[in-house]
Amino acid sequence: MVTINYIVGMLSIVTLISGRGSNFEAIVKTAQKERWLVKFTGVIANQATAKGLDFARSQGIPAFAIEHRDYLSRESFDAALIQQIEALGANLVVLAGFMRILTPGFIRHFEGRLINIHPALLPAFPGLHTHERALEAGATEHGATVHFVSEGVDEGPIICQASVPVLPEDDANSLAARVLAAEHQIYPRAVKWFLDGRLRIVGNQVQIQPPESQLIKL
Ligand code: GRF
Repeated sequence: MVTINYIVGMLSIVTLISGRGSNFEAIVKTAQKERWLVKFTGVIANQATAKGLDFARSQGIPAFAIEHRDYLSRESFDAALIQQIEALGANLVVLAGFMRILTPGFIRHFEGRLINIHPALLPAFPGLHTHERALEAGATEHGATVHFVSEGVDEGPIICQASVPVLPEDDANSLAARVLAAEHQIYPRAVKWFLDGRLRIVGNQVQIQPPESQLIKL
C-alpha cells in the first residue's frame, strides 16, 4: 500500500503541461470558484510556446519552460524537472496534457502524489490517438480517466472516470470535444479529493472515503 502524506494547512500543486493547458485552467478556475485551500506554486512546460503558460501568468502563477530539447537524456531532463518541482514545493504534481514519457526515477520520486489525465476509459486505449482508435474500434462509449501515475504508460490506480456516448455522426474532432468537456469535470474533482485527504491507494485500486462514485456518465 502506498501511503499518501498530507500536510495540514495550505497544500501546494505544481502542474506540468505541454500545450493548451485547458485542464490546468479548469482546475484553477474550479479552485477559485470553490475557494479551495490550495496554492498553485508553479506550472512547468516542456516547451516555451505552451499556451497554458500564458494563462498561468495571467493568474499570477509562476510559469516556467524547461525545454526537453536542451537536455541530452530523459534522465537529465527529469532531474531538472524534479529539482524545479521540489524548489516550488509540491504536495501534488498534476500532469495536464504533459506529452513526455517520464522516467521510472521521476515516477518513484513522486509516487502517491503524481496524477495524470488520459483521454480514454483506461485500460482501453492507452497511448496516443485515442479518439480515432475508439471510432475505429466501433466503441459506443468513450471517456477520460484520472489516475495515479505508475511506471507503465497510462497505467496506475484509477481515481475517477467520465464516460460519454460515441454518436453515429462523430468524427475524431467532435468526440475529442465531448471528452475534453468531461475531462474538465473530472480533473478538478479528483484533485479536490486528493487535497481533502480522501484517497487511499490499496494495491492497484483507489479507495475514496467517504465513498463516492468514481464513474460519472455524461
Ligand atoms: C487532454 O485531452 C489530455 O487528456 C491529454 O492531452 C490533452 C491536453 O489538453 N493528455 P489540455 O492541454 O489540458 O487542453
